Amino acid sequence: MLDVAAPARSLFEGLKPQQPDVLLSLIALYRDDPRPQKIDLGVGVYRDAAGDTPVFGAVKAAEALLLETQATKSYLGPEGDLRFLELIAPMIFGQSAASQDLFGVQTPGGTGALRLAAELANAGTSGARIWLGTPSWPIHAPIFTQAGLKVATYRYFDPKTQAVCFDEMMSALGGAQAGDVVLLHGCCHNPAGADLSLEQWRAVADLLAARGAVPLIDLAYQGLGAGLDEDAAGLRLVLETIDTALVAYSFDKNFGLYRERTGALFVRARGQAELVRSNILQLARCNWSMPPDHGAAVVRVVLEDAGLTAQWRAELDGMRRRLTSVRHDLAEADPRLEPLRDQHGLFSLLPLTPAQVETMRRDHAVYMAGSGRINLAGLTADTVQPFVQALGACLSGDAQ
Ligand code: LMR
Repeated sequence: MLDVAAPARSLFEGLKPQQPDVLLSLIALYRDDPRPQKIDLGVGVYRDAAGDTPVFGAVKAAEALLLETQATKSYLGPEGDLRFLELIAPMIFGQSAASQDLFGVQTPGGTGALRLAAELANAGTSGARIWLGTPSWPIHAPIFTQAGLKVATYRYFDPKTQAVCFDEMMSALGGAQAGDVVLLHGCCHNPAGADLSLEQWRAVADLLAARGAVPLIDLAYQGLGAGLDEDAAGLRLVLETIDTALVAYSFDKNFGLYRERTGALFVRARGQAELVRSNILQLARCNWSMPPDHGAAVVRVVLEDAGLTAQWRAELDGMRRRLTSVRHDLAEADPRLEPLRDQHGLFSLLPLTPAQVETMRRDHAVYMAGSGRINLAGLTADTVQPFVQALGACLSGDAQ
């Protein structure tokens, strides 16, 4: 007889409530704030001098071409668009990319690439260890732990001194063991804005080679720092030294393709290339089967056409120039912000407590990540001064 009174077991009984993503929550908080003077320095999205995030002209043109010429939307395969992969490789790895034993797969954004790298590492060594710098992008740690990896940390940056803690980093990474993965930000560090110098990249590469550790380089902002080649210089240097490496790449920012989810994972596994390649394709197949096509098709069309490539590069140069000028304006406006001048990319990390971040939001309508990270692209000629004044009031503790 059926025991109708027996309590039903819930499929979901093991779930714990999750906090909404704090970074993404800022979008709605900002949107709902009625104060006209509000300033959005939250989520990492580029904004132009008018505060807009327009579609790149080169992307619009490529989309028009695609609309006209695309003859099918049939499946491509788990590695995505092969021509896209072929075209982006020299941009990332330099002209010798084809001879570097790299295998690439298109992914849904840089996050998809990180997830795939994490699953590959865990499939290779169950519970493999990954070293993350502190601070890092807040989603790094959960991506890796959810894929089964164990996270270890090395101190990377001190917001008070605005300096990379290089000696501490090297000393911590001296404890890395063979097969450990070490995550490095390729350029435009998120959230710190402070990157390694080339000498430091070289020292890190030598250390990882000596330890047998595997770099996972997250390159999400190529071209927004010092230039396309300059921003990949550290990565290229590491690849000159190390036989096994992973690179997670995002086109969100440098092509403005945020919601199109366009990225790639490149892997070098000398001696085990085919084994690793077949595992990546199997993992990709089980995750998303095939990556979304549109963004990669747009990048392909742009990079296949010299005129569109030149247009895209000019647009990217304009973004970089604007970020540099905001950094300059901040440094001029307050000597305490001087170190920001030499940092790169969208972000800098201010030494603010969570309470001060809250004060900035409540009293000054300035929205930033809880860590004190600001997205400099959120500032315009009109808002640098009000921001600096609010920050000054907050830092000196006299904000009401
Ligand atoms: C950020 O750090 O704000 C961006 O990379 C957007 C995101 O997905 O978190």
